[in-house]
Amino acid sequence: MLKYLALSTGLSLGLIFGVSAGAVAAEDAPKVIHAGAMVDVETGQVLRDRVILIEAGLISAIEPKATIDETRFPDNAELIDLSNMTVLPGLSDSHVHLTSDASVHGYKRLTVSTPRAAITGVVNAEKTLMAGFTTVRNLGAPGFADIDLMNAIEAGDIPGPHMIPAGRSIGITGGHCDNNLLPFEYEAKAGGVADGPWAVRAKVRENNKYGAKVIKFCGTGGVLSKGTKIGAQQFSFEEMKAIVEEAHLLGLKVAVHAHGAEGIETAIRAGVDSVEHASLISDEGLRMAKRKGTYLSMDIYVSDYILSEGEAAGILEESLAKERVVGKAQREKFQAAARAGVNLAFGSDAGVYPHGQNGRQFAYMVDWGLTPMKAIQAATIGNAKLFGITKDRGSLSVGKRADIIAVDGDPMDDIRALEDVDFVMKDGVVYKRD
Ligand code: ARG
Repeated sequence: MLKYLALSTGLSLGLIFGVSAGAVAAEDAPKVIHAGAMVDVETGQVLRDRVILIEAGLISAIEPKATIDETRFPDNAELIDLSNMTVLPGLSDSHVHLTSDASVHGYKRLTVSTPRAAITGVVNAEKTLMAGFTTVRNLGAPGFADIDLMNAIEAGDIPGPHMIPAGRSIGITGGHCDNNLLPFEYEAKAGGVADGPWAVRAKVRENNKYGAKVIKFCGTGGVLSKGTKIGAQQFSFEEMKAIVEEAHLLGLKVAVHAHGAEGIETAIRAGVDSVEHASLISDEGLRMAKRKGTYLSMDIYVSDYILSEGEAAGILEESLAKERVVGKAQREKFQAAARAGVNLAFGSDAGVYPHGQNGRQFAYMVDWGLTPMKAIQAATIGNAKLFGITKDRGSLSVGKRADIIAVDGDPMDDIRALEDVDFVMKDGVVYKRD
């Protein structure tokens, strides 16, 4: 009991000194969280009154409050009282573009230099972390800006989520991952453009050389690119196979941007780890994904933003026309995928819409066929499996990194609770405490 009082004193000191106005609590100090409710994403259960002990950035114990032996808490442990909150593992997003600004689309993008994009990334990294997203895959950035962003976060220079950056997205000449806005005199060409099996292998090697942790390529046309057809496959099977084989040799996972049915099927056959968007996936595509364990990362919120704010942000009329076709169809396909029991990731495409609003997609995932628990599992343990990081992250388990968030209310009852995250810890450091 005495021990517990000492910890409570630690709490008030922590609140005064540790986490006000964006400051960061001492990393090394052990912490004891009292969770009123704790979401165990491994078993799909919500546990009551758990104590989580955090030492050196890792979860070192999780036990019922009623039975935990408090004498084992280190003397300098700081108590964090979340007894009236729901505690969850840090969320993750399998598809963001931190260096993109949602109010800058279409021809406006031509005015953005790579250094400017990197600065935008600094701002968005913090917004993303404060929204409870402690891990993100950044699927494409100009000039490897996302890799420097990751390095700056890891060095502790700026706050941000744990990042898995793709560097340059690989794509065909004139495809979704190229820059098609200007006439030929300008010779504009995106950095990841390559044609032919050996040329695409070289791009994979180049991304790896400069620090990419995942490979992204474009396997069909897209909504926001000029002059591409959503349904049209980009890259032959041979080229896709070369990308996947080379990436896997280097120990990197592969994410394909694909809306159209044929491009999706070809990419799954080529062995990609996740299909991004997957908007018009066929029944055969769903069967293939299920058989191979391929993840679908379906950004089913973003359509609302594109159709309401997109024009003002500079999105081209032809893109708005494509979105009108793809948005609703994608939600129906998401429902079919949920029914079929295909692996679903949580991927939002934040950057197309404002960062920090990633959590808005949860309600859509629940409206279109997932239980709240399944939607939360997609954004935690599901994504962690896709990213290959379950040893360190993705659930609240002893031995994993202490990436922990908390919200008011019960997300099992109202998933929108996740749109307003009150407490954020990453690697044992408290970044937010409302
Ligand atoms: N980056 C994607 C593209 O341009 C955004 C697609 C958004 N629309 C959607 N319904 N998910 O293709």
